[in-house]
Amino acid sequence: MQIKPRILLVEDDEGWLKLLYRKLKSDEHEMGIASSVKEALEKFEKEKFDIVITDLKMEVEGSKEGGFVVIKQVKELSPSTQVIVITAYGSVEYAKKSFKEGVVDFVDKSGDWIEELKRALKEAIDQKLRVSLKPNPFRPQDTNPPFLGGREKELVFFEKVLQDALRGYIRHLVALGEWGIGKSSLLYYFKKIAQENGFLTALIPLRKYSKAETQLEGVQGIIQAMLREFPGTEISSLKNFLKKISGIAIAGCGISFENVKENQPEILLQDSLCSLWEDLKDVSKLIIVMLDDVQNYWEIPDILITLRQILGHPKVKKTGFLFILSSTLAEWVKLTSVNRYNPVRRFFEPLELKPLSREEITMTVKISLEGTGVIFTDDVLEKICLFSNGHPFEIQMLCRNLYENQIGGTIDYRNMDKAIFQTIRHLGKTVFENWCREIEQDEIVVLDTLAKEEEPMSEEGIKLALLNKKCEKAIYNVNKCLANLSKKKLVIQFNELYTIQDKLFKEYIKIRGQV
Ligand SMILES: Nc1ncnc2c1ncn2[C@@H]1O[C@H](COP(=O)(O)OP(=O)(O)O)[C@@H](O)[C@H]1O
Ligand SMILES: [Mg+2]
Repeated sequence: MQIKPRILLVEDDEGWLKLLYRKLKSDEHEMGIASSVKEALEKFEKEKFDIVITDLKMEVEGSKEGGFVVIKQVKELSPSTQVIVITAYGSVEYAKKSFKEGVVDFVDKSGDWIEELKRALKEAIDQKLRVSLKPNPFRPQDTNPPFLGGREKELVFFEKVLQDALRGYIRHLVALGEWGIGKSSLLYYFKKIAQENGFLTALIPLRKYSKAETQLEGVQGIIQAMLREFPGTEISSLKNFLKKISGIAIAGCGISFENVKENQPEILLQDSLCSLWEDLKDVSKLIIVMLDDVQNYWEIPDILITLRQILGHPKVKKTGFLFILSSTLAEWVKLTSVNRYNPVRRFFEPLELKPLSREEITMTVKISLEGTGVIFTDDVLEKICLFSNGHPFEIQMLCRNLYENQIGGTIDYRNMDKAIFQTIRHLGKTVFENWCREIEQDEIVVLDTLAKEEEPMSEEGIKLALLNKKCEKAIYNVNKCLANLSKKKLVIQFNELYTIQDKLFKEYIKIRGQV
């Protein structure tokens, strides 16, 4: 649905105001009126307009050029609002001054000027509509953000890894970080770089494996995905190998592994890689295989040991395979502690992704907005930094909602509350509620207490607040609760003071009952 553009008509001569209102009124837009500078500013403060049509000569605090006061204020509050000036005292000087203030059109009240004004208005509306039809550049669910902010270091590092690999020094990597920090997006950009360099690359999003499954299924998953990712390439050695071990004909890329069961997963993976290399080494000097979300191997952790052993095997070392994994940090640490004689963790070089800094956030948002005609004001950018703490998914989600709420192209502080509420509601359903489900009732009570307080609290402060709320039982547990919540990274401690780490989560806890 297209939202109707909103127009504010400012004219201190009541006669003119009525006439213009009648002439410009239309079903295509909504129109507000103001008969003084003061009224215009009050109305604009309260509700934003996409277009302002203002007279220039209006009395205001000693000056006769009240129109300029309107223009200045409007442009300050909403830079993208289009201003059209009308005046009975048209002169080049005025026109010049108006344009300098960011006015889009200047109509002289002479001749057939009402027609002229209609044309100017239509142009301004068309311009506005063009702006609001641009697709939203913020897509929290996608892993190809229009601009990957704050990851220059990682991208440069990856180029280096590729160069080293070409020289025979292969470093397998693992991108680590919490949910939504940008692991998949980074792999996506890595893939683009690798492909630009002419290397075959398979980006494999791993599904969750269940307890009932085995390593073998995991290995089959990798092989099948690689075949899907390299369509059109001649892979006769691999096919022959698979045929030999499974005795099954291979149709297209779909391979049936039914009879492979007796085989060792190590052998299957190792020989598949080696055969695939035989098939493709003339096509690509390196083959990059990315396994996204290896924490999904939780129930079949041995597959990581297998992978590590194979990649360390002299036969595979002679090939040009480069493996890049990604995982949530905590799960990676646990997964790779399974067997301390198999130092999987040290084998893959970690690339730990951090939240974006203030500058990186601002740059990401601004660059993403390029070409849309939409502007976020500085105080909104500030709030995005504050609420997201630099977490890319939260940034995308907040920005998407902010963008959706724009009418005329400017997003300012008035859009903020609604966007935050929408973001919390969404994150609540998809993420935060899961966090809550994984903690004890007393811990929720402690979180509640922390959420109500703007500032970080001491343990004693929390106890006192609980005492006031008559939550005697929880009081005895505060220490344990805080320890647990800290361990789960929901709460951070600093100088004996505690606070909820994720600001949006904090907001969610505040309004949890209402969501
Ligand atoms: N560096 C970044 N700059 C801008 N947006 C990013 C960045 N990293 C991730 N995003 C966005 O954040 C969201 C979550 O990223 P994703 O890569 O899926 O995280 P993860 O795989 O770590 O869970 C995606 O919408 C993505 O577009
Ligand atoms: Mg991901």
